[in-house]
Amino acid sequence: MAMVAASAPGKVILFGEHAVVYGEPALAGAISKRVRVEVARAPGGLRIYSDNKDHRYVEKAVELVFNHLGRSSGLTLRITSELPPASGLGSSAAVSVATIAATAKALGRELSKEEISRLGHRVELEVQGAASPTDTLTATMGGVLYIQPGKKYTWVKASLPLVVGCTGIERSTKQLVEQVRALRDRYPEVVLPIIKNIGGLTREAKKRLEKGGDIGDLMNINHGLLVALGVGNEVLSRLVHAARAAGARGAKITGAGGGGCIIAYAPGETKRVLEAIEAQGCVALDAGIASEGVRLEK
Ligand code: MEV
Repeated sequence: MAMVAASAPGKVILFGEHAVVYGEPALAGAISKRVRVEVARAPGGLRIYSDNKDHRYVEKAVELVFNHLGRSSGLTLRITSELPPASGLGSSAAVSVATIAATAKALGRELSKEEISRLGHRVELEVQGAASPTDTLTATMGGVLYIQPGKKYTWVKASLPLVVGCTGIERSTKQLVEQVRALRDRYPEVVLPIIKNIGGLTREAKKRLEKGGDIGDLMNINHGLLVALGVGNEVLSRLVHAARAAGARGAKITGAGGGGCIIAYAPGETKRVLEAIEAQGCVALDAGIASEGVRLEK
């Protein structure tokens, strides 16, 4: 049978990381850097060719699709990615979601986005032990999503020129979430208002995005509050300040912090900001918001 392919975007958290763990809203955006998965039926078991470390997600995604459809097959999968792995840009979610869509199609079924998103979240849960649905939902649906824990997400119409700057420092989201929890337990009267404030500025950012307004100041405030929660570090600060000095209207940590990446909002100044991040010895990506989530490729 012929080869089929699917791709899915990576994501950034625009506002609200960490606070979302405590019930506050978050804004997440799919970015224009994608993971592509090609699947062909082949005799024998599973053969995976990939240049990143997401094999466990691929294997689990295939297994869940086989269970979901009640059938299986020998498969050859080839994965190519524009996302640096383990950088907090949702690489494992994008791989999982694209693998699910392509594998189901190779077996003759086109799954709905709801099915893909649900199976994708299960892949992350089973491989990692814990995961919020944010990454797999964003990789599946695309665009900017306003996510309120316990409620259905909504789309926010927004197109943003973004630059992503990656420290190259791998870190554990789980450990950073625990670190913030420990700080909250030690100083609840200090830390809880910070978390509430992050929620407030995420709500304000949603309103501004809907009106096409500037979100630079709010990103800068959000960055300061993340640093206050203890998830900053020297390299992240250098990248944030280099981006602002090069003309970004706002720049902040994106995701769990402690390493990973920053995002900069730099309308009209993308090139200068990319260069400023590279001058710090870091990888810079020119990444707008991707309106399309997972899709089957020709
Ligand atoms: C990590 O991308 C975002 C956190 O808020 C954790 C989570 O929501 O699962 C830090």
